[in-house]
Amino acid sequence: MSAVNYTSLSNLSPQGRWRRVLLIAMVPMICAFIYYAYESSFIPTNFKPIHRYPTTNDNGGNNNSFEGEDLSMTQVIKALYKPILHPVDAANFTDEDGDVYRLSGEPRFKEKLGKRVLILDIDSRSLTDEGQIMNQELKWKGMRPLSAGMLSHYMFAMIHGYDYKFIRAPDYADRWGTWVKVPMMKEALKTHDYIVFMDSDVMFHYPHLPLEWLLNYWNMTSETLAMMAIDPDEPQNYDHKGNRYLNTGFVIAQQSKRTQEMYKSWGECPSESKYKGCAKWKLEWAHEQAAFGNYLRYDYDRPEDIKVLPCTEANGAPEAVNRGGCKGIFVRHFWVDKGLLPKGLADSVMQYFLPRLHQLYHQEAANHIVDAKGFRLEGADMIELTDEEKEKLKSDEGKNQKDEGF
Ligand SMILES: *[C@@H]1O[C@H](CO)[C@@H](O)[C@H](O)[C@H]1NC(C)=O
Ligand SMILES: *[C@@H]1O[C@H](CO)[C@@H](O)[C@H](O)[C@H]1NC(C)=O
Ligand SMILES: *[C@@H]1O[C@H](CO)[C@@H](O)[C@H](O)[C@H]1NC(C)=O
Repeated sequence: MSAVNYTSLSNLSPQGRWRRVLLIAMVPMICAFIYYAYESSFIPTNFKPIHRYPTTNDNGGNNNSFEGEDLSMTQVIKALYKPILHPVDAANFTDEDGDVYRLSGEPRFKEKLGKRVLILDIDSRSLTDEGQIMNQELKWKGMRPLSAGMLSHYMFAMIHGYDYKFIRAPDYADRWGTWVKVPMMKEALKTHDYIVFMDSDVMFHYPHLPLEWLLNYWNMTSETLAMMAIDPDEPQNYDHKGNRYLNTGFVIAQQSKRTQEMYKSWGECPSESKYKGCAKWKLEWAHEQAAFGNYLRYDYDRPEDIKVLPCTEANGAPEAVNRGGCKGIFVRHFWVDKGLLPKGLADSVMQYFLPRLHQLYHQEAANHIVDAKGFRLEGADMIELTDEEKEKLKSDEGKNQKDEGF
């Protein structure tokens, strides 16, 4: 269970990735070819099912481990989302409830940002236990919630061609584990123009909605340092000055000299060389979030510095709607119940898989929908109806049936 190869931090730089770039460049070409050649069918005809999934080995247990490069899975993912990707510069977006979200002005991002964006997971824990993401095997049954979150980040990056990294962070000797996000994000902001850091209980609800569209919608400007969502209106979420904390579980940050300065001050906050009283947040809740809320945001307070995202759009989940309306329209944060994460991952696949399956079902209807309505049943026999009998039948429709049941 220890043969997982981790990418070292130095491989964050583009130079270390030529091999992957080449590979990644080939994938869309292959996909495009397959997609255009077999447009009518969603599953490419050269798609080979993974022959060992699921299998029972001699010990009687499931053995779902995959070997080597699995390009076919990349193809499946891209084929599922590509036809319905939302344009990055669309004037509006309609969500699953039919609510329409409109840009307030001309979109700033009109092109895809691709590898300039880094989708970032950071953790200092080993996460190698059963059901955890760094274990060599992972099954749907028994999957631990955070694995679902991180896999959804990976998938989101794959769908849109963003970069994805999981950084195995070193620990601070004297601070709570979540503090490691600060220096790790700072480091990532040296190699990428935009980073999207998500706690592992955070996920995008619409994987087909690109980050660029959200940057347009949330007014990311050239001056913006970071965007974070506000926390629910509850007593524990207020700082010394009586303002609500910004949640550091979801951060979009933009590379700049000033952003580097801000992260440096944030990481050094507990030293108290600049911010008196910050040391207590080393171990006390809400840790780095409290440091940001009590000090950093008041120091970086130019109008464009920090964009505050509405709780209803970028925090919480529908199950938390009674906590200040934070229902996670675009970005879900499952602090309300981490057990909802696997369902969140399933939603982000099934939202797209189901309509496509249904479409295929009807597209191929001639092959499998059999119309026996022109017959009547007598004993065990089918007898073709006369025209008069057909007329009479119409008025009796539904007599011995009920909706979706018998
Ligand atoms: C699963 O199958 C692979 C390949 O057949 C094998 O190398 C591996 O040891 C198996 N794992 C378990 C847990 O049986
Ligand atoms: C959304 O934008 C499209 C294209 O700009 C437009 O045709 C459509 O009417 C808009 N829909 C709504 C509900 O505003
Ligand atoms: C973006 O700008 C529009 C128009 O000024 C405003 O209504 C909206 O609240 C802004 N959004 C954010 C997240 O700042």
